[in-house]
Amino acid sequence: MLPPALRVALERALTGTDQKRLATAASGLSERYREGHSRTTAPFVQNAADVLAYAATRMPATLGALKAACSEIAQRQPNFKPQTQLDLGAGTGAATWAASLVWPTLQQHHLLERESTMLQLGQRLMQAGPSSLQQARWQQANLPNSSNVGSYDLVTIGYVLGELNTSQRQQLFAQAWQATSGSLLIVEPGTPRGFELILAAREFLLGQQAHLIAPCPHEATCPMQANDWCHFATRIERTRFHRSLKGAELGYEDEKWSYIAVSRQPTQLAPARIIRHPFQQPQRIQLQLCTPQGLHSTTINKRDAQWKAARKAEWGASFEPNLGQD
Ligand SMILES: C[S@@+](CC[C@H](N)C(=O)[O-])C[C@H]1O[C@@H](n2cnc3c(N)ncnc32)[C@H](O)[C@@H]1O
Repeated sequence: MLPPALRVALERALTGTDQKRLATAASGLSERYREGHSRTTAPFVQNAADVLAYAATRMPATLGALKAACSEIAQRQPNFKPQTQLDLGAGTGAATWAASLVWPTLQQHHLLERESTMLQLGQRLMQAGPSSLQQARWQQANLPNSSNVGSYDLVTIGYVLGELNTSQRQQLFAQAWQATSGSLLIVEPGTPRGFELILAAREFLLGQQAHLIAPCPHEATCPMQANDWCHFATRIERTRFHRSLKGAELGYEDEKWSYIAVSRQPTQLAPARIIRHPFQQPQRIQLQLCTPQGLHSTTINKRDAQWKAARKAEWGASFEPNLGQD
């Protein structure tokens, strides 16, 4: 759910805009995002209506996913108290809002974004936020940027990799890691393509001696099979505007996302990660896990010591498996 101040600011920004034009922009935008990497030559967001449509229909979902990923970092790194953040490909500022909700210690935000229309709306929306967001430094930049952007406790890249070509992506990984003094988070759509891009980032970063934070419970080769992909889901409440623009009935949608978070510091990894919705039956629960020994399906019965933990288990959470029992 969007922070109330952002929700109000967004509704204000949307008021008075022709709804039909926005709905057309929203459907054009989702079509371009579905087409994905084959369209990297033209900007995904092309005019003012696209930017408003992005903020209304995509920003709640990207913010929700980024916040869930930041929360996972905070859980695995309880002593990580970032003060500075660099947000690359910031769009309308979702990753910065997300991080500031998870870490109130953040005081300085530096956001780099190529499209001036995205940047202007993002800046305007942040005036409704806490003072650190009101004072955020927005900079128009075409990434990867050859200049040294400085050093930050937290670096975020939210839903950007799919808009870059292979060489730009590799340079962006290098630039982002160089700018990271603490932790780096990369989030992409939870699609086969999004996961492929996350895997490329994982390979690059582990090659730079980065330490994994999440989601993987190990730093070995990813055991995911060729026809499968590691992703998670977050339920997003749809605003009134969002529903009317999408012509949607449901009051929510499930945003699927893939991610990788790494750190300069070694981190205690999850013992195992739940990689599917748990399959719950009255007497048993089946969990699909990624473990340091590879992918593993485990069934927990009502009489097992792990029953209570399994009842609370959610897709994306860590889990202490009893690998001897299956
Ligand atoms: C899908 S949006 C994501 C925005 C935001 N990070 C979020 O999670 O909602 C991708 C953003 O990356 C920006 N972008 C794409 N290529 C870029 C580049 N080469 N340099 C800077 N920004 C870029 C786009 O303009 C767009 O705002």
